[in-house]
Amino acid sequence: MRIDGKGIANKRKDDVKVKIDTLKQEGKRIPKLVVILVGEDPASKVYVRNKDRACQYTGMLSEIIRLEDTISEDDLLNEIDRLNKDDSVDGILVQLPIPKHINEEKILNFIDPAKDVDGFHPVNVAKLFLNQGGLVPCTPQGMMVILDEINYDLTGKEVVVVGRSNIVGKPVALLCLHRNATVTMCHSRTQDLKSVCKRADVLIAAIGKPKFFNHEYVKDGAVVLDVGINRDENNKLCGDVDYEDVKDIASYITPVPGGIGPMTISMLMENTLKAYEKREEEK
Ligand code: GUN
Repeated sequence: MRIDGKGIANKRKDDVKVKIDTLKQEGKRIPKLVVILVGEDPASKVYVRNKDRACQYTGMLSEIIRLEDTISEDDLLNEIDRLNKDDSVDGILVQLPIPKHINEEKILNFIDPAKDVDGFHPVNVAKLFLNQGGLVPCTPQGMMVILDEINYDLTGKEVVVVGRSNIVGKPVALLCLHRNATVTMCHSRTQDLKSVCKRADVLIAAIGKPKFFNHEYVKDGAVVLDVGINRDENNKLCGDVDYEDVKDIASYITPVPGGIGPMTISMLMENTLKAYEKREEEK
């Protein structure tokens, strides 16, 4: 069955909107997200625009800071410093990738963990590792919400994650582990990937290769979550999974577009609201 990520995401955004409407009615401060976009990467521009639209939709305050790709590391750090200190800002997101002359690690480590709505700061990564709350990366969190929506209990299930990125593969593996799944992480060096994937009750495809996973990788009745955003031979958006080839084998499968992608943005809204609530609580 096709999982309607877009529909689930819209429902979750509506829930955020209701909460923000209430804050407005009560005359409270409104949560604010600031997105920093460095340079002109076309895909990043689309993602940033979509994030801005989601803020408009939910009523959250939103600011996009557009910086030249020639900006120095120090100037970018200064910008983040200003936002860290600005009490009206709840969420800071630096859209990746950033230009090569800037040290990504240094930038991400400089964002106040309390405002790190991407969940990329080592403090939040450690909290995820230890299952101590904190801000969790949006895409993996979106996948957990999807599993909740289809009432899928991960306890004892075999999850195979393909792709070991810090943004998706590693965090989603931890989230599944915390839900008592048996988790296998695969990557470019994995031997006999097909037979490992074929064991999966839940297959998470996050390698960035168009339509890589066909029916040979998928067990009958598996849940398939496709994180890929690629272009196929006709320049059409497609995932890492060959949807047409797999859809009748999988019990549930997320399409691309309209699957995991919209969930990521709606989780960003939730993370910003969560950061806001926590900061208000601690005032
Ligand atoms: N670029 C691609 N995905 C992401 C993401 O989740 N967060 C940020 N900041 N940049 C990205």
